[in-house]
Amino acid sequence: MSPATGPRLEYPDLRHPGAGLYVHVPFCRCKCPYCDFFSLSATPEGLHEYPALVIRQLELAQTNGDWAGPLASVFLGGGTPSLLPPAAVGGLLDAAERRFGFCEGAEISLEANPGTVTEASLMGYRAAGVNRLSIGVQSLSPTNLAMLGRIHSAEEAVQAFHWSRRAGFASVSGDVIFALPGQNAAAALADVDQLLQLGPEHLSCYGLALEPGTALQHAVASGQLALPDENSYADMYLALHERLDAAGFEHYEISNYARPGHACRHNLNTWQRGSYLGLGPGAHSFLARDWGIRFAVPGDWPRYRRRLAAGQDPAETLEILDRSGAMAETLYLGLRCAAGVDENQFRKRFGQSLAEAFPTAWQKTGSRLHRCRDHWSLSPSDWLIFDTLISAFL
Ligand SMILES: C[S@@+](CC[C@H](N)C(=O)[O-])C[C@H]1O[C@@H](n2cnc3c(N)ncnc32)[C@H](O)[C@@H]1O
Ligand code: SF4
Repeated sequence: MSPATGPRLEYPDLRHPGAGLYVHVPFCRCKCPYCDFFSLSATPEGLHEYPALVIRQLELAQTNGDWAGPLASVFLGGGTPSLLPPAAVGGLLDAAERRFGFCEGAEISLEANPGTVTEASLMGYRAAGVNRLSIGVQSLSPTNLAMLGRIHSAEEAVQAFHWSRRAGFASVSGDVIFALPGQNAAAALADVDQLLQLGPEHLSCYGLALEPGTALQHAVASGQLALPDENSYADMYLALHERLDAAGFEHYEISNYARPGHACRHNLNTWQRGSYLGLGPGAHSFLARDWGIRFAVPGDWPRYRRRLAAGQDPAETLEILDRSGAMAETLYLGLRCAAGVDENQFRKRFGQSLAEAFPTAWQKTGSRLHRCRDHWSLSPSDWLIFDTLISAFL
């Protein structure tokens, strides 16, 4: 594996030209046993009512004066945004454009579960203005899909890819989960190799995480299932890195790979601490004012409806950062990315170098950071121990 040599892709600097908009769509056909994202069982009433509620929250946020466009990215995530009909997605995007405006070439992403799309619905999303699809493939092995409790087959995931091309999407991403029970590096590679044949521009490869309170966690706790150990996890992670690197993908963030020009701008903006407004129960926002302010809309559907019916913003302040919090966050989020932390930008913002800002941690861990053209970054093998390395700085 080659060490990180600094950024190869051109990373857009989104701090100044535009903010992001995140719309959380909190409905799923059924709950996957591993997932703890906020989502409810989809009902026709909920799906019908939801777009108008989100537009009301968008209008409240815009009139309170904190949030300004134009938007450089919109991300419809979930939950399962592909349960919304294209006309509803079009209505949301129209409202966002009317209130905030879009930057030229704004990235508009939608997460699609293969079990919920048709060729016509994908054509509808494209016509509504969505220009990037993120397809929740997870695996192309029927055994793994069954173990993950997915509502779709491998064939349906492949078909969703073909339909997305026929619908005119030029930027298509696939979500993959690896480090599954019983999986080894060869099996993880076989999965990704099949996906590569579909020609994605972007892949998100997540190691299966045991989230507290999920059915998967109970299955592991009761001995019904066992996850791969740390060494096999590392073997799979590094094998995927090598395979995707050789296939021309930039490993631009711990879990994310992109062909040149296809890094997810929305996510880059969040890692660069650019402003983004989050709509919907379970959504978070970040306002890049002073040292930064974080907000969250509680994952509570009845409360969400009540607050909006009363004309009240459903978001709550989560954290107002101070200078040292902002410095730690800049480092933590920056080192997740191959582009790393720009020493000059850091000094300009905080009046200190990284070594001056974190003298003790720098002595302990600074030698793990690579410097390239004034950017400090970690190598992909050090991303494997990211939490341990970064804890010295927090
Ligand atoms: C919030 S989901 C939305 C995608 C869409 N609902 C779907 O499942 O097709 C985004 C991605 O997070 C990943 N994910 C969710 N829970 C995870 C877990 N416990 N471990 C690893 N990845 C997870 C999955 O890859 C999933 O596609
Ligand atoms: S992985 Fe996707 S479909 Fe499954 S519960 Fe989570 S958000 Fe819903």
